[in-house]
Amino acid sequence: MSACAFVTGAAGFIGAFLSARLVREGWEVVGLDNVNSYYDPGIKEERLWMLREADAEGRFTFVRGDLADAALIERLFAENSFDVVVNLAAQAGVRYSIENPRAYVESNLVGFFNVLEACRHHPVGHLVYASSSSVYGGNEKVPFSEEDRVDSPVSLYAATKKSDELMAHAYSKLYSIPATGLRFFTVYGPMGRPDMAYFKFADTLRAGGTIKIYNMGDCRRDFTYVDDIVEGVVRVMANPPEVREGADGLPTAAHRVYNIGNSDPVQLLDFVGTLQRVLVEEGVLPEGYDFGAHRELVPMQPGDVPVTYADTSALERDLGYRPQTKLEDGLREFARWYRGYRGPQ
Ligand SMILES: NC(=O)c1ccc[n+]([C@@H]2O[C@H](COP(=O)([O-])OP(=O)(O)OC[C@H]3O[C@@H](n4cnc5c(N)ncnc54)[C@H](O)[C@@H]3O)[C@@H](O)[C@H]2O)c1
Repeated sequence: MSACAFVTGAAGFIGAFLSARLVREGWEVVGLDNVNSYYDPGIKEERLWMLREADAEGRFTFVRGDLADAALIERLFAENSFDVVVNLAAQAGVRYSIENPRAYVESNLVGFFNVLEACRHHPVGHLVYASSSSVYGGNEKVPFSEEDRVDSPVSLYAATKKSDELMAHAYSKLYSIPATGLRFFTVYGPMGRPDMAYFKFADTLRAGGTIKIYNMGDCRRDFTYVDDIVEGVVRVMANPPEVREGADGLPTAAHRVYNIGNSDPVQLLDFVGTLQRVLVEEGVLPEGYDFGAHRELVPMQPGDVPVTYADTSALERDLGYRPQTKLEDGLREFARWYRGYRGPQ
């Protein structure tokens, strides 16, 4: 019998690519998503369509529902025997959390609590869940290591992700749930999120508007290609932390946290330069597009951080993996997909 995974946020950017990879590899996958309209749900439908194409053997079951619905989550765990749970559903985005804090509490705290409770009552082999590089807040020491203190979030989004790590640790200790939290660093790629900078830049330039470059362009981001994230998640899934007995005779927390990032931060202006070039080369924007006339340098926004930079040595040490994709190659894949999705200017 094939192994069964429960993937939440399956119509989301990372969840759809992960689910597609899992069904191709022979997993049964139950995917949950409420297909909310935080960003264009059309793109979520497109991802579900891609997923159905990948699912030649009919191994993917989609459940349209809410993580905050405790009865639904309990029922899904009772009806299926999940070997691995990958919790990716969340209210994402830093800026949106300033205007809509409740959405973060519902999905990221109540929703994740429901998953933990279900794992407590229906034991699973491994709970893998998405945290975020945003837990590092304004950390000035780079690269960011899992050993660094992360007690100073600068957004509610970051605070909920850090809370998820704490709740997972406590549940792991109390109920011997093998659990791994993954701090993803700015994920990009085809079918990506339209609320993220690279996608918004493409939309704005295509519409002839002016892109805003925050912190006067003096920002560095560790951009990570979606396939590299999926590879990292798949490797982590296969390697649950061991439940061990502690000195007090009780089990220790089988919980750990990894960074997954490119570990090669890029200056925002260099990033924009590469994006512009591939958008022209892939036919999204015309030759000779006057980029200088379509950009504005603006100050830092609340909730933003000047740098993200992943130390991925723990992931490399334990799982022999580090992300590989070059920024230009990843952005080209995005631009090719984008041209088909939105069309040329
Ligand atoms: N993309 C990134 O750069 C990045 C970086 C750090 C962390 N993360 C985290 O990784 C995970 C996946 O991110 P993504 O980029 O794929 O985001 P996404 O928004 O594309 O995917 C999340 C999905 O979860 C669904 N969802 C949200 N709340 C839900 C709820 N209450 N019930 C059911 N479904 C719900 C949404 O409809 C969406 O399809 C998230 O937890 C996010 O916080 C992403």
